[in-house]
Amino acid sequence: MTGLGKVAVLGAGNIGGSLAQRLAEMDLAREVVLVDIVDGLPQGKALDIQESAPILGFSTRVTGSTALDALAGADVVVETAGLARKPGMGRSDLLSKNASIVRGHAEAVRVQAPNAVVIVVTNPVDVMTYWFRKISGFPPARVFGESGTLDTARFRWFVAEALGVAPRDVTGFVLGSHGDTMVPVLSLTSVSGVPLTKLLPADRLAAIVERAKQGGGEIVNLLKTGSAFYAPTASQAELVRAIARDEHRLLSASAHLDGEFGERDVYIGVPAVLGRAGVERVVPVDLTPEERTAFAASVAAVRDDLRILSELPP
Ligand code: LAC
Repeated sequence: MTGLGKVAVLGAGNIGGSLAQRLAEMDLAREVVLVDIVDGLPQGKALDIQESAPILGFSTRVTGSTALDALAGADVVVETAGLARKPGMGRSDLLSKNASIVRGHAEAVRVQAPNAVVIVVTNPVDVMTYWFRKISGFPPARVFGESGTLDTARFRWFVAEALGVAPRDVTGFVLGSHGDTMVPVLSLTSVSGVPLTKLLPADRLAAIVERAKQGGGEIVNLLKTGSAFYAPTASQAELVRAIARDEHRLLSASAHLDGEFGERDVYIGVPAVLGRAGVERVVPVDLTPEERTAFAASVAAVRDDLRILSELPP
């Protein structure tokens, strides 16, 4: 299977606009539709992207709409809508506002695009992915969250910079929640197969781990008026491509656990095989005792937010 009919991007902010541009330029779908409640924003960004087609050579039709029925028949939906962090805010501070936005969208996707694979980006992403899945009633395989591919990209870049090697040669996994408790897994990181622990001393590694964990916050503090979008949308586009081309990529994603890693009824960053059907399977990996403890703490942090979510007024 190659290519998709329609990809719908919910939210035409910095993330939605940049993602629509990347998707169009990758020519992954016949149509990319941007949807937002602010009249003019999705239409304007879509038209602006569309007008680059003669120069860039893509065939994708890019449209914008304020109506949720523009989701109709989408093969893939990317949920980017919601508030972004400002300096001093944690991702969890966004919980109640974003939960109500995501609820409305999940209800619309259930009706308009009942067969879609959904990628959730809205923060706090592990919690919002759980919430989207629950409201939509979709099978868990068809709803997953973007978190680990972004965190892993940041981690890979810091390693590449420290070693002076090509960023793409650094592979690894950042698991756990997309938050302060994320778990960069050094035992699974290598440079073209050479274990990272043989290439960098422990103190440099520890500094890189710490910087990766604060990676989103570092950008928020620099931008002051919003959060990152270039690396996030590169990561989201990689996920859409894995679906569009049925690539069976083994990537870190916020996936539903049903006993894997000893956890149930939670969404959290784990290695997962991703293709046209969504999450084909979660891949269990051996963690060191310290990594296991850190992963458990990360699951506990997500469960705390899920508890807050379950206590919100309907
Ligand atoms: C980040 C936000 C998008 O990590 O969560 O940049």
